[in-house]
Amino acid sequence: MEDKDIARLPEHFGRVSRRDFLKFCAVATATMGLPLGAAVRIAEAVASPQRPPVIWLSGQECTGCTETLLRSTHPTVDHLILDLISLDYHETLSTPAGHLAEEAKKKSMAAHQGKFILVVEGAIPIKDKGIYCMIGGRPMVEILRETAPQAMGIVAIGSCAAWGGIPSAEPNPTGAVGAQEALGRDFKVINVPGCPPNPYNFLSTVLYILTFKKLPDLDKEGRPKFAYGRMIHELCERRPNFDAGRFALEFGDEGHRQGWCLYKLGCKGPETRNNCPAMLFGDVGSRSWPVGIGSPCFGCSERGIGFTAPVVAQASLQKVTPPDVCAPIVTDRGGGPGLATVGVGAGLAGLALGAGAVTAWKLGQVPSDSGEEAEKD
Ligand code: SF4
Ligand code: F3S
Repeated sequence: MEDKDIARLPEHFGRVSRRDFLKFCAVATATMGLPLGAAVRIAEAVASPQRPPVIWLSGQECTGCTETLLRSTHPTVDHLILDLISLDYHETLSTPAGHLAEEAKKKSMAAHQGKFILVVEGAIPIKDKGIYCMIGGRPMVEILRETAPQAMGIVAIGSCAAWGGIPSAEPNPTGAVGAQEALGRDFKVINVPGCPPNPYNFLSTVLYILTFKKLPDLDKEGRPKFAYGRMIHELCERRPNFDAGRFALEFGDEGHRQGWCLYKLGCKGPETRNNCPAMLFGDVGSRSWPVGIGSPCFGCSERGIGFTAPVVAQASLQKVTPPDVCAPIVTDRGGGPGLATVGVGAGLAGLALGAGAVTAWKLGQVPSDSGEEAEKD
């Protein structure tokens, strides 16, 4: 980032200082794997006098995805949304309600044909012509199909919008599906799943579309590769314990308190793609993610795992990529090694089949009733 580029930017972005906003853009560019100089380009795109319009539709949901966004900082995302993006319609955050809100949406769509970003939060019920989610007297599915063709990009925030999430869990009485399924193949929906998703993954996606006027690289599930390109298991701080055969066997046992691997408690990290161990949640520091605080990952961002596989079921290990060097295990802190140590171990690519065999052997050797005996192994 050169000084002359920074000097071109306004001193304030709404209520956010240039310095704080550039910090946020730097995090976003790092999240997307872009060179640091792209931060200025993103800032310029967002600083344009024409604030990018966003229309946010809510289906069957708990508002958790909106909440996670509002709880973010660097800068506070409510400032980002209220000052930098023109949030023209959002059932929870819009000041107008009822018919006035519907009117605001119509006006925004008419004024910004092909230029607004459509965000979908929550699942869309399609059974019985969509009557199980009515907004302003009309089925959500009808509103979505009417709005989508006019949008510049469509982003599904959260697992419900991505593929149905909780509302679609068996027996799925309302026929809940994600935005892509409700819209069909003529549309390309970017999925940012999670329950809730990391707000920076969502914001980075929106900023990418606004800045580069194209979609980021997506995986086969429609998820941005920059956020969902790697398994939780590859980045997890408990991974050296997995490789060493140290497993918590019950919640609260010695292994659990020592920060050992949660695989035997049903952790779905080995089959779930997301960047939770690296991005963390809530801006409160290290280990602020499910596995970091002792809860197995239940695969919330993986279709067919979260809300589908039994919570206690052990994950498939077919995709395990054990490192060929194990990081040392530190048990006296009660939480396993730090992220930097794990990064060295987990980041080693081209992982040998032999190491996989060792891991499988160690899994087989761990006695089922004692975490301490696992240590001897
Ligand atoms: Fe971490 Fe879960 Fe993998 Fe264990 S199984 S190393 S807790 S992601
Ligand atoms: Fe979800 Fe697992 Fe991350 S449960 S929040 S993908 S650790």
